[in-house]
Amino acid sequence: MRTTAPQEAFLQAFHAEYPAVTAEAFSRGQAPDGRSSYEILCDRVAGSMRVLDLGCGDGLLLELLARRPGRQLAGVDLSSHSLALARRRPALSEAKLEEGRAQELPFADDSFDACVSHMALMLMSEIEQVAAEAARVLSPGGALACVVGGGAVGGEAYERFLTLLRRTIEETPSSQRIPALGDKRTRSREGLDEVLGPAGFAAVDWETVPIDLSGPVEQVWAAVSSLYDLGPLDGATVKRLRKAFFAEVRGMAMPDGYVPCVFRIRLATARLR
Ligand SMILES: C[S@@+](CC[C@H](N)C(=O)[O-])C[C@H]1O[C@@H](n2cnc3c(N)ncnc32)[C@H](O)[C@@H]1O
Repeated sequence: MRTTAPQEAFLQAFHAEYPAVTAEAFSRGQAPDGRSSYEILCDRVAGSMRVLDLGCGDGLLLELLARRPGRQLAGVDLSSHSLALARRRPALSEAKLEEGRAQELPFADDSFDACVSHMALMLMSEIEQVAAEAARVLSPGGALACVVGGGAVGGEAYERFLTLLRRTIEETPSSQRIPALGDKRTRSREGLDEVLGPAGFAAVDWETVPIDLSGPVEQVWAAVSSLYDLGPLDGATVKRLRKAFFAEVRGMAMPDGYVPCVFRIRLATARLR
């Protein structure tokens, strides 16, 4: 029997405690045109009727996709706790929601027109296997469309948070650090081409979009502190980090009290040749 890799065991344990953390942090984020990163991804596959979400979490993206009548939807995720939330969404009562790994998809060949993935592809190990599985379940000409994290824009709260977090982690015993997650090639166009090309995908279409997460400082803290890195930190360390963050961004607040916070996403789409 296959033993669970430490990375996947970490993700499962984290999401057992925080099953909807990404949707809570990012659903209110806005691109310059007002759409959330979930809405942008949903629009990318507007013409596809059979759609699979890789790392679907609590099912927010699938729920948006379900607004188009007649769509056949499916999701796969490692976390039974996140999937339990997805299964509670009335719009997903017909969706096939499976606990499993994107590296071993429990779906037949040629069963989807599009695979989507929001903030999950970059966490996956054995990424060539994920690419091969996506290619296997897609029909010829099918699309893989993903949102992956693209870091801070600079001069705003997320950049300050990352600097404080890096410092905190350097001072933290290794027992409180997360395992290395995913494959960094998923974070660049060239890297993704290298992974997806051999699986049969054409060149990746790559776009960078800033997502505005500005808000009252408590709300901005809730968003930035949803990162996996905080999971293993002890309570006192998180409290110190929070205090340092509040002090750091106090002077940044705008007249309406909002603290500027921007997170960059990379939107990648590739079609099966
Ligand atoms: C950051 S969360 C994003 C969840 C959701 N897509 C969203 O944006 O709200 C990443 C999700 O990917 C899932 N995941 C990570 N690696 C996976 C894998 N190899 N196979 C299936 N799911 C995976 C995690 O369990 C987690 O639910």
